[in-house]
Amino acid sequence: MKTVAEIIEQNAFSHSDLVTLLAAEGDDLKLIYDKAAEVKAKYIGNKVYLRGLVEYSNKCRKNCYYCGIRLGNAKVNRYTIDDDEVVQAAKYIKQLGYGSMVLQSGELMTPTFVDAIERLLLRIHEATDHTLGITLSMGEQSEDTYRRWFDAGAKRYLLRIESSTKELYYKLHPDDNTHSYDIRLEALLTLRKVGYQVGSGVMIGLPFQTLDHLADDLLFLQSLDVDMVGMGPYIEHSDTPLYQYRYLLPSVEHRLELSLKMVAILRIMMKDINIAATTALQTLRADAREQAVVVGANIIMPNVTPQSFRKQYFLYQNKTVVKDDAFAYHEQLEQAIKAIGCEIGYNAHGDSKHFERTPLMSLWGYNY
Ligand code: 5AD
Ligand code: SF4
Repeated sequence: MKTVAEIIEQNAFSHSDLVTLLAAEGDDLKLIYDKAAEVKAKYIGNKVYLRGLVEYSNKCRKNCYYCGIRLGNAKVNRYTIDDDEVVQAAKYIKQLGYGSMVLQSGELMTPTFVDAIERLLLRIHEATDHTLGITLSMGEQSEDTYRRWFDAGAKRYLLRIESSTKELYYKLHPDDNTHSYDIRLEALLTLRKVGYQVGSGVMIGLPFQTLDHLADDLLFLQSLDVDMVGMGPYIEHSDTPLYQYRYLLPSVEHRLELSLKMVAILRIMMKDINIAATTALQTLRADAREQAVVVGANIIMPNVTPQSFRKQYFLYQNKTVVKDDAFAYHEQLEQAIKAIGCEIGYNAHGDSKHFERTPLMSLWGYNY
């Protein structure tokens, strides 16, 4: 069997290589973290790009078993933020020098919703002199919708596959047309075809999840050739069906370690993509996001959702809800980033270098 030291020097990784890396402990784990930091320094540098996150609406047509804002959770007060407030948040993001914003919401496909997002995109661009990069995270949509939003100025899209293994996917979602694995995969291919920089990702430390599943997830993200990845620990929510399996969960420490390992291994595999240090990481431990940056991540998404809505966007419990205003939070974040030897990439979109290098990838869908 190959050693960890041998595996991390390779250029291609088999399923069993990845399982070996995911199981690494002690000195072997340090080798992985050091290699990931070395790859990041060489291909990405020490800049961390910030995306101001606005949680636009918690209305959702889906019933994912793990998610606190699922349709079936009647305890949630549903909201949609006013256009004016979103535009104000966008201006603030620009003022902070973040260079780009992420608009996220539950999944809605109604014509009213699709029109509203299109109008909002145009308004945000106009209000910020067409300087902000805009990323959408609004679930599965038709090709026509993806095109309209692209034409209205969204250039990046995040759609996590959640788990790349069908068998596990259907332990996390109802097995019906609204939650079809195949449709989700198709949506990822469509986004690529339309021309977006495409981001995906998975949850880590789920009940029923094994290292084999996680190794498959890494291979999936690589074969999809994504430009961006956001992946973080699963965190249980008592108002969801998956909560009943919490006795199967790895400990918080283990989930954190697995998440950091996933980030580090992915950085070694996909050297020039954007990798986010997620809020879920920070929820499990205050400094875990910075640690993720040390071992390979280069994107942080500070929450700039207007305060009054934040408590209604609980995908999972104990989510870090920053009570300070965005500016005080920003100053703390800047210090934390400096303390680990990195700096913020101000007033830049911070596009995925991977995407910049592969502009013809819009043809990619035809190979599948
Ligand atoms: N724990 C961690 N992440 C979650 N998400 C949803 N629910 C949870 C949870 N309980 C993630 C999903 C989704 C993203 C917006 O939030 O991966 O794609
Ligand atoms: Fe809706 Fe996304 Fe939550 Fe699923 S994970 S219920 S699609 S908000």
